[in-house]
Amino acid sequence: MKTKPTTSLRPYIVLAVSFVATLGCVAADLPSYYTEPFRPQFHFTPEKNWMNDPNGLVYYEGEYHLFYQYNPFGDKWGHMSWGHAVSHDLIHWKHLPLALAEENGVMIFSGSAVVDWKNTSGFGKNGNPPIVATYAGNYTQKPLQNENIAYSNDRGRTWTKYSGNPVIDIGSKDFRDPKVFWHEPTKRWIMVVALSADHKIRFYASPNLKQWTSLSDFGPAGATSGVWECPDLFPLPVNFDTNQIKWVLIVGVGSGAPAGGTGVQYFIGNFDGTNFTQDDVSLSGSKPVGDADEVLADFEGDNYGNWKITGNAFGSGPVHPDASVTGYLGRKLVDSFGSSDSNQGTLTSPEFVVDRDYLSFLIGGGAHPGKVGMNLIVKGAIVKTATGNNSSSLRWQSWDVRQYRGKSAQLEIFDNDTNNDWGHIYVDQITLGNSPVSATADNALWADYGPDFYAAASWSDIPKSDGRRIWIGWMNNWQYGQDLPTSPWRSAMSVPRELSLIATGEGIRLAQQPVAELNQLREFFPLTFSGGSFADASRWLMNHTNLPPLLDVEMTFTKVSNESPFAVILQTGLNQQISIACEPALNQLIVDRRQSGLTAFNRDFSGRYRAPLNLTNGCYKLRLLVDTSSLETFVQDGKVVLTSLMFPNAGPRNLRLTLGKGGQPYVSGITIYKLKSAWNKDFPSTIAP
Ligand code: FRU
Repeated sequence: MKTKPTTSLRPYIVLAVSFVATLGCVAADLPSYYTEPFRPQFHFTPEKNWMNDPNGLVYYEGEYHLFYQYNPFGDKWGHMSWGHAVSHDLIHWKHLPLALAEENGVMIFSGSAVVDWKNTSGFGKNGNPPIVATYAGNYTQKPLQNENIAYSNDRGRTWTKYSGNPVIDIGSKDFRDPKVFWHEPTKRWIMVVALSADHKIRFYASPNLKQWTSLSDFGPAGATSGVWECPDLFPLPVNFDTNQIKWVLIVGVGSGAPAGGTGVQYFIGNFDGTNFTQDDVSLSGSKPVGDADEVLADFEGDNYGNWKITGNAFGSGPVHPDASVTGYLGRKLVDSFGSSDSNQGTLTSPEFVVDRDYLSFLIGGGAHPGKVGMNLIVKGAIVKTATGNNSSSLRWQSWDVRQYRGKSAQLEIFDNDTNNDWGHIYVDQITLGNSPVSATADNALWADYGPDFYAAASWSDIPKSDGRRIWIGWMNNWQYGQDLPTSPWRSAMSVPRELSLIATGEGIRLAQQPVAELNQLREFFPLTFSGGSFADASRWLMNHTNLPPLLDVEMTFTKVSNESPFAVILQTGLNQQISIACEPALNQLIVDRRQSGLTAFNRDFSGRYRAPLNLTNGCYKLRLLVDTSSLETFVQDGKVVLTSLMFPNAGPRNLRLTLGKGGQPYVSGITIYKLKSAWNKDFPSTIAP
């Protein structure tokens, strides 16, 4: 649950904020600058006090602006205003004075900024375009949130709130986080804003950023387990093909994300200037099964093994389906179509002991109870039954089997339907685990499967010649964010990441890579292992111990099979580590931070996080970004990302490899770059005041 404290009312806040604002950009060339315990060295943090969402991300005249939710008065959420920093390269940041302050009982909640190139707003001066920010005003003395604008005529250095604010007010208390962009085909501004409690995104249009007309709503859809916040919407080419453009709608979900607490989901579809329409995508295969430790059947073999077949519906083994069937895992599944929908038969598992709390599986096909489906049989009686959904898209279902724990059971997949209307069933990946597949998680695509990536937003106005879509997220979680053991600041941003859309076997997915500018922090002469057996690679790592705390590690594993799960362990002290496990049989990446150092500051912090991860030609490609208090794991060129904070000892780091079952993958390369701090004594850089 998101737990922001209710703020006390402080009418005298304006005076105090402007006082703090003048102190906001204290020079920073002290040798002790940014050396406190856990102080990130290549991630953005404010010098002091509380920070949450990135806001107002805009590029103008060679500067990337990063505004952010900021409490100038303390290290917990409250009195929200916009802090400000700028950078030439997204890596080295210069702190600037507070940009927009809470005033007259209105907090400055999250929002965006654009360069108004055509001066549609009329706020421009001397022929120069203004930067216009749009933000949610959050009223401290009444339950109201509305949309407001402010502008700057001096490269974002100082701001004026528009005298005609608010520009949209619908009398709602949950109406926030406007993202504005110029839509060239319809030649107007579009605003994307969250009706948070209704799980809806509303679209508005405006000719001048001041008058707005409501266009349409999207949602509820996907994950609705928490409030919807911080939307973003942008086009991206699929597989870098500029002839194939899709729109990506980003939505923060306030609780119930796969890693627990807050997370970022996305929708892929089209935006025609008025409506966003989601593509029809199969989502089921994208979700790992909770704590699914034991796969009873993955149906990847040539035959059904010791399952018993009757009739002619099930053929002689699992099938590789045609492209209309989606959502299964691996290459094959059970399909009772046989040679026609009228084929009938059963497929019965050997007896197994129910030794976990939940039995989860992917199921699709007919929705005819008693005719096609799967039964759980205990002592000869059918105790659970499931059917498909009259579609060829498999979905996860979970049965609570706690009352049968310790008992012997059998599964029976049956098709006694002669009908031609969905008279067959699909089943895959039958798994025993200790938690169910969460209904919400099952329905959504997630940008990052770790606990610490939220409220992500992308930069506006990056020049066409650059062409990148870059975003950054708040590297924290509302579940425990205000308890992080850091001082005098609290919260960091993720590394800025370049976004792309990749067509995968399961559909189009969002991929993220750290921006290339990060590479400038790499020290020369990385440690390199140029390929060899798993044992050779392990030995090589043992000969390269005592690594410094800032690392950028690339590792490629090939010839991986279901028999060769393995883990990369980052040791940070005696009995202290964070592990990154690749589980091919489960199709999962698992990051475990339960022993990563300080965890007890909040009971929700310690945990193990899973992301769906498919092998690509028997290969896993990992990139680990290790800062003093975070680990960002990018796998398969950023198709899977998992971000997690950690609070380990300050000492040297060691990398180790461990094997799960005994089968050994081949390690075709390891490169360990030591990274320099972005906050060194040469700071601040060349940025003009
Ligand atoms: C997301 C959020 C936004 C809101 C801001 C307030 O983290 O709840 O919806 O604008 O934080 O700080």
